[in-house]
Amino acid sequence: MVKTISLVILSVLLLSSSLGSATATETKQSQEEVQRMYEQWLMENRKNYNALGEKERRFNIFKDNLKLIEAHNSVPDRTYELGLTRFADLTDDEFRAIHLRGKMEVTSDPVIGDRYLYKEGDVLPDKVDWRDEGAVAPVKDQGDCGGCWAFSATGAVEGLNKIKTGELVSLSEQELMDCDREGDSGNFGCLGGSAANAFEFIIENGGIVTDKVYPYTENDTAACKAIEMVTTRYVTIDSYEDAPHNDEMSLKKAVAHQPISVMVEAENMKLYKSGVFTGPCDHWYGNHNVVVVGYGTTERGEDYWIIRNSWGANWGESGYLKLQRNFHNSTGNCGVAIRPVYPLKSNSSFGLLLSPSMFKLGVLFVLIGWALL
Ligand SMILES: *[C@@H]1O[C@H](CO)[C@@H](O)[C@H](O)[C@H]1NC(C)=O
Ligand SMILES: *[C@@H]1O[C@H](CO)[C@@H](O)[C@H](O)[C@H]1NC(C)=O
Repeated sequence: MVKTISLVILSVLLLSSSLGSATATETKQSQEEVQRMYEQWLMENRKNYNALGEKERRFNIFKDNLKLIEAHNSVPDRTYELGLTRFADLTDDEFRAIHLRGKMEVTSDPVIGDRYLYKEGDVLPDKVDWRDEGAVAPVKDQGDCGGCWAFSATGAVEGLNKIKTGELVSLSEQELMDCDREGDSGNFGCLGGSAANAFEFIIENGGIVTDKVYPYTENDTAACKAIEMVTTRYVTIDSYEDAPHNDEMSLKKAVAHQPISVMVEAENMKLYKSGVFTGPCDHWYGNHNVVVVGYGTTERGEDYWIIRNSWGANWGESGYLKLQRNFHNSTGNCGVAIRPVYPLKSNSSFGLLLSPSMFKLGVLFVLIGWALL
């Protein structure tokens, strides 16, 4: 730790001394180069600031972020790299306010299942990647909306549904955003929520429809649209439960069976580009819902979780982050193991075939057929 800090200080000193006295910025590049990088970044990220002075104000934040990125990346032997992500014009406070809306509170008492409780002698695979099994839908983008909880919930249900039925169906976050927000649902659209509360809704609602019929609009004031389930695809779950809390080995066992919803403290993931993220982050709480879709170990021996995020495919490693695994505290790094939660589904509960309305329709057709004979 001390070594890392002194290396940071050393590299910052080296950087600033190599710039000489003429430059006002402490970035590697000249002011003009940084300006060019900014213009290019604005274009690539389709940024358009309307307010007077906003572009200049954002430029200063961009420069601060660039400095931080360069200081971090110049440290030898770092396990991960930072980069000019789409959030490079935001301060940490702004980023937290807009994007980190995961809620630790849940409306009903957690039921902790023991099916994934790690026991001495359990043999688990060294690596798991549900993407290789086709159980992970393409990375989605929650936009400037704190709806991470909805994306975490759909991700876990999509994975489970693929495992149980063989089909990967991309599900509707907007249905959760619009319909799972009344009264004591515990979810608040773009202002946050929890995956567990979303599973509760999916069970009570009799399923969740696809994002094809109910697409994501990022609209936080849209009314709940009643989708007629008789005529559309939807996916059901039977129940949900927590994996044992604060136990990375049990989380490993759980992830070996299905993608798992977790929360992480994600403030410093803002500029994450690649590699195994080791923090700094707080490990005693979470503020962002994501899905763990696998785990593994790098060639250098670093254990990691594969985190599927919902910040689009041009953040991190094509939308994913590798998070340090086997942390010194049982909470897991960034709190990943505090409270994992997952949906459950029996092999046969296939929404389209077994829904009550489909069953009634089937009975009707049989009766009509019989009457015609
Ligand atoms: C969001 O939905 C509401 C209600 O349907 C509508 O009035 C409003 O125009 C929508 N906003 C956007 C930005 O689409
Ligand atoms: C783990 O973290 C929690 C919360 O910060 C702390 O109370 C506890 O003492 C830590 N445990 C260990 C073994 O470091």
